Amino acid sequence: MINRLDKLLGIAFLLLIFSCKHEPIAPVEETNVTPLPPVITDNPCDPDSVYFQVDILPLLRSNCAFSGCHGGGSSENGVELSNYNNVMQTADVRPADPEGSDLYEMITETDPDKRMPQPPYAPLSAEQISMVRKWIEQGAKNNSCDNCDTTNVTFSKNVQPIIQKNCQGCHSGSNPSSGILLTNYNEISVRVSSGELFGAISHQIGYTPMPNGQPKLNQCLIDQIEIWINNGAKND
Ligand code: HEC
Repeated sequence: MINRLDKLLGIAFLLLIFSCKHEPIAPVEETNVTPLPPVITDNPCDPDSVYFQVDILPLLRSNCAFSGCHGGGSSENGVELSNYNNVMQTADVRPADPEGSDLYEMITETDPDKRMPQPPYAPLSAEQISMVRKWIEQGAKNNSCDNCDTTNVTFSKNVQPIIQKNCQGCHSGSNPSSGILLTNYNEISVRVSSGELFGAISHQIGYTPMPNGQPKLNQCLIDQIEIWINNGAKND
């Protein structure tokens, strides 16, 4: 009996060694690491990091990567911005070197004839430009994180940033798509009251699916907007 137990323990020990050899565990910086249950593989968003999938791609999709410009089958001047590889290659992004990256140069160009997005589209805001800069400085990685927090959803914390990133590229400036402006609370709430905004983002029948010509918003973002609307769509 004892012998058998010894053998079993021996085998278990060997398996442990083998599994360690075959699946090297990535180095972890924290010292007191408690193992997480396998289901939690999410990477919570760190407020000091900029994430390509969460921050940069939606911005590019809404401001640049559409048909006729740099996406939806168009690649003006050879630049296509609808996915990570194309962004890195066709907009010549050099990790840690914003000044040497065409992408950054294009959005910060002072000559309005050369600056992207070109009129009638509004230039990126200073905040958006610095987000792109920070992403490049942080290594221009194809990173993502999970921020699906549906508690205490507010206009300023959740809804406004979602609209800013995903919609304002087309729905701002002097010639907004379909004449619809979505740049502040009042403009947004008009489209919420009419049912258009939620109809469009949740792809309800009778509405043009938004963002126009782009993948549907991540379900978590749609949920956050829905919760905010159900709570009275307040300017909170
Ligand atoms: C790439 C440009 C683009 C982006 C990004 C975009 N829109 Fe639009 N939007 C349009 C165009 C173009 C129309 C007019 C479509 C039509 O009528 O065929 C439109 C129409 C709409 C309408 C009216 C829909 C209807 O059925 O009457 C709403 C509401 C709207 N957009 C909201 C949004 C929201 C919210 C977002 C972000 C989640 C967004 N849009 C992102 C271009 C865009």
